[in-house]
Amino acid sequence: MIRLDKYLAEAGVGTRSQVKKAIRDGHVKINGEIAKHADIKVDEDHDIVQFDDEEVWFSEFVYIMLNKPQGYISASRGWDPNVIDLIAEPFRNLFPVGRLDKDTEGLLLITNDGQLAHELLSPKKQIEKEYYTEISVPLNDEDIGKIRNGITWHEETYRPAEYKKISDYSCTLTVTEGKYHEIKRMIQALGSEVTYLKRIRMKNLVLDEALKPGEYRFLSEEELNDLKAV
Ligand code: URA
Repeated sequence: MIRLDKYLAEAGVGTRSQVKKAIRDGHVKINGEIAKHADIKVDEDHDIVQFDDEEVWFSEFVYIMLNKPQGYISASRGWDPNVIDLIAEPFRNLFPVGRLDKDTEGLLLITNDGQLAHELLSPKKQIEKEYYTEISVPLNDEDIGKIRNGITWHEETYRPAEYKKISDYSCTLTVTEGKYHEIKRMIQALGSEVTYLKRIRMKNLVLDEALKPGEYRFLSEEELNDLKAV
């Protein structure tokens, strides 16, 4: 059971004070009856809540796909400018699942589901992360062999990664660990530099190309189920 105003706020209808006013003004029904008090308890599994006659679905967790723009820090509020400030939704406790460098763009999952985040970030799970990568110096066959076999550089080891050539100066790289500056350092180890980096996939969640940098949308049910599947 959950308070009606909390239910509506967490479902994204508005802020707590906006939904309280909406309840007072008679916009909200529970099981077909106008609800007059914000502190009525709602059974989130059985009661039907409507706002202006539209059903409002409650979900404890939210899952957002953000196309992270350059210049933003992958952290919760408190850092400036941070990716959570890009999410104009009334949800609290959102955080990014993993980190992209400040100058990296692309797919970042934002949620308040700590369990799923833990699963996706667990080193044991070896979740695939695919990056579109532009580089300053073309790689040769020997370099590509090193990427595919794993790289040791400055006392750090990087597990074998998948390499797909796009052009002399661009490729996709798929890694299964989440080490700090992983792609940049692998490329640096080979005598080249990353000039542009964009994450395009995490596990089976693919960045929606309709999202411009800074834009986001909620995951579809299918995307979420795929992400949760072992
Ligand atoms: N590897 C990097 O070097 N940077 C990122 O942001 C992600 C992976």
